[in-house]
Amino acid sequence: MSDSLKNNCSNNTQVFVLFGATGDLSLRKIFPAWYQLQRAGLLAPTLKILAVGRNQSTSEQFRQKVSSALATFAPQSQKDIDTCQSLIDRIDYIQLELLESSDYIKLKSAVESAGAVATYYLATPPSLIEPICENLNKVGAVISTSKIVAEKPIGCDLASSKAINDKLAYYFDESQIYRIDHYLGKETVQNLIALRFGNSILANQWSHKNIDYVEITAVESVGIEDRWGYYDDVGQMRDMIQGHLLQLLCLVAMEPPAQLNAQSIRNEKEQVLQALRPISSGNIPDNVIRGQYGDGQCADGFVPGYLNEVGAKFQSETETFICIRAEIDNWRWSGTPFYLRTGKRMAEKVTEIVVHFKPDPHHVFDTDQKSIVRNTLIIRLQPTEGISLQMLTKSQGIEQGMRLRRDPLHLDFIESQQASRIPDAYERLLFEVLKGDQSLFVGRNEVELAWAWCDQVIGACDQSSQPLHPYPAGSSGPIEARQLIQKYGHQWYEDQ
Ligand code: BG6
Repeated sequence: MSDSLKNNCSNNTQVFVLFGATGDLSLRKIFPAWYQLQRAGLLAPTLKILAVGRNQSTSEQFRQKVSSALATFAPQSQKDIDTCQSLIDRIDYIQLELLESSDYIKLKSAVESAGAVATYYLATPPSLIEPICENLNKVGAVISTSKIVAEKPIGCDLASSKAINDKLAYYFDESQIYRIDHYLGKETVQNLIALRFGNSILANQWSHKNIDYVEITAVESVGIEDRWGYYDDVGQMRDMIQGHLLQLLCLVAMEPPAQLNAQSIRNEKEQVLQALRPISSGNIPDNVIRGQYGDGQCADGFVPGYLNEVGAKFQSETETFICIRAEIDNWRWSGTPFYLRTGKRMAEKVTEIVVHFKPDPHHVFDTDQKSIVRNTLIIRLQPTEGISLQMLTKSQGIEQGMRLRRDPLHLDFIESQQASRIPDAYERLLFEVLKGDQSLFVGRNEVELAWAWCDQVIGACDQSSQPLHPYPAGSSGPIEARQLIQKYGHQWYEDQ
């Protein structure tokens, strides 16, 4: 890490106020991310962490809790006792009734005695955004240098996201607001920018002229993980497409930004969202497939279907799988579909972007080889992070004549950079908040444009008579998703 980057984070004394500090997200993701930043020497010595929770606890008891969480979620911490201790020493706990404005006075004095610049991180349900902001403001804890970090979901439709954004905007300027979509902190997602704008060989190919279609897949083997109550209201469309998959689509499809700063990148992403073609109920069958998992077998054995999960209360039409054929109506992408596919309880966890290039206009090899003569670029985010380009070469051997074969030119980020690990998205995002760089956070307009498109697709699905397609847990989703893409002469990468 360069000194200038480190200095960026150490110029001001900062206090990081974590609301929801005893919650799952904080213990599983946020403290382990702090630990890794501490380990990498990226935290200014003066940085303090103020953990805010509803439970009665002393700072000492809370530090113990963080230590045990680190032992589970950042296992190196057990060996690296010194780093762990240095992080723990930064933490103080403060008990607060979040809806009680008078309680915030003690928070304000703790912030003031700890340092100058406060970042309020809301690892709390969205319903608490307004009261927390209001109470912080009431006691004068919001000043022009304060920052606020909000976790998803920012609403469950356009109207509710506008309401949340209005509340945030009432107390904070947009330049102080950091909306998290953790996909943007993933190393390979950022690599999309390097790949697209640092390699002229790709930049010159990047349009409908050379690209046949693009697949964006984020499928998981896990189910809904005891979150039936929450999940049944959102489904895969709101949980994954609205944020994560549309963000990936934007980064693949956007025009080159004038500069690599938040404003330029956000402007370009907004243009893409504005150009997404609406899907009406009449053309749902040609563009959308929704599914729901039933009982099935996963790697660990039998797993219950969605309607038999713990907490399931009634029949539900919520989709646990969705595949959408999205079209971008602009000069660059007209005629090149983007297939978005995401599901729970699928055979394995895979997150990848696959760019299928068009074949050359004239085929000179044996006709039976026609279908393989095309290049494919795979940008893989999970389970391993890397990039490969499928190339055509001649099969070795005189007897092979001019038989072709496809092999990957493969770049594995761990291997090629001799890295021992790839940083978790939260490490990057926390670091960027400290630096005050909003490039990896989602702007208000993006959130609302994404919701506008999703609302419209959700409404169209509700109006259409298309059934919800069942699929067994542990499978590759409903067969109808394969048929949808085949209808357009395309194939999923794994079927080729
Ligand atoms: C979250 C969703 O935002 O992303 C979860 O709410 C999903 O349902 C998770 O499992 C997937 O994240 P990742 O980083 O594991 O792909």
